Amino acid sequence: MKSNILVIGGTGKTGRKVVERLQKLDQNVRVGSRNATPAFDWKNHSTWSRAMEGIDKMYVTFQPDLAVPGALDAIEALTKQARESGVKKIVLLSGKGEKEAELCEQVVINSGIDHTIVRASWFNQNFSESFFLDPILAGHVALPKAEVEVPYVDTDDIADVVVEALVDDKHNGHIYALTGPKLLTFGDVVNEIAIATGREIQFTLITLSAYSKMLEEANVPADYIWLINYLFTEVLDAKGNNVVTKDIEKVLGRKPKDFSAYVHETAATGVWNVTSEQHA
Ligand SMILES: NC(=O)c1ccc[n+]([C@@H]2O[C@H](COP(=O)([O-])OP(=O)(O)OC[C@H]3O[C@@H](n4cnc5c(N)ncnc54)[C@H](OP(=O)(O)O)[C@@H]3O)[C@@H](O)[C@H]2O)c1
Repeated sequence: MKSNILVIGGTGKTGRKVVERLQKLDQNVRVGSRNATPAFDWKNHSTWSRAMEGIDKMYVTFQPDLAVPGALDAIEALTKQARESGVKKIVLLSGKGEKEAELCEQVVINSGIDHTIVRASWFNQNFSESFFLDPILAGHVALPKAEVEVPYVDTDDIADVVVEALVDDKHNGHIYALTGPKLLTFGDVVNEIAIATGREIQFTLITLSAYSKMLEEANVPADYIWLINYLFTEVLDAKGNNVVTKDIEKVLGRKPKDFSAYVHETAATGVWNVTSEQHA
């Protein structure tokens, strides 16, 4: 059946893939973002009712993270608006191992609206579309907590699960914890990318305070540094978080994408190639 589906963050890492997949399934899709028409801005509540007008279902990705101060209030206000606008289903993207995000999940779970919670591990695409891309291009990745093994998950798999949850009501009321099929340290990741690209990329272990200082010196905004600190202290090695789950296989009936497959596909796009401008 055809539904009207709002994808909040519909040009982002997971949202744009969800939009593409829903369009292929011939669903009516509306992108929710500050640059869409009508616009949706998390920081401007007055944009929300227009963006939700006539909408049956929503995929919700919060900015920048459900753990930041103010996220809980925003999700409470969003679910209230969703009820008022007649939205019948919400699929929420959440972060695995984030206690604050779980409070936001509870708001959606108790909203009276049908829902599925998609709790994802750290994305593979953080190395190609987000905060770890620049150090890879610079050929020198310096990070704390080198020993921690993370079950990185691919945004292709997240998008497939989200779409499945949006179109099939059998997923209502479920919480899915999504991980990739193997655990990798930062050193493992850098090594794989270096081999696939034929580039020399060094990995150095530094302390969290040295890392924060480095971000400050690079003029990274303070709230972003707060988030990175939170992710490194509370989430990266949260108890029980660094295990491989079977939920992707359970929902999709196939194995999740392996990190090496992501590295090979991504290397072929050229995003990790260093241009002469970056050398200068
Ligand atoms: N990265 C990870 O490893 C990881 C792991 C687990 C969970 N998560 C969660 O993933 C979520 C982010 O999802 P994502 O990575 O798919 O998205 P993303 O790539 O971070 O999001 C970019 C999208 O958000 C929109 N956007 C940015 N600021 C906005 C605002 N103020 N109001 C409305 N839209 C705004 C952008 O469009 P415009 O610029 O046009 O507004 C764009 O569509 C976060 O809640 C994070 O906690 C991330």
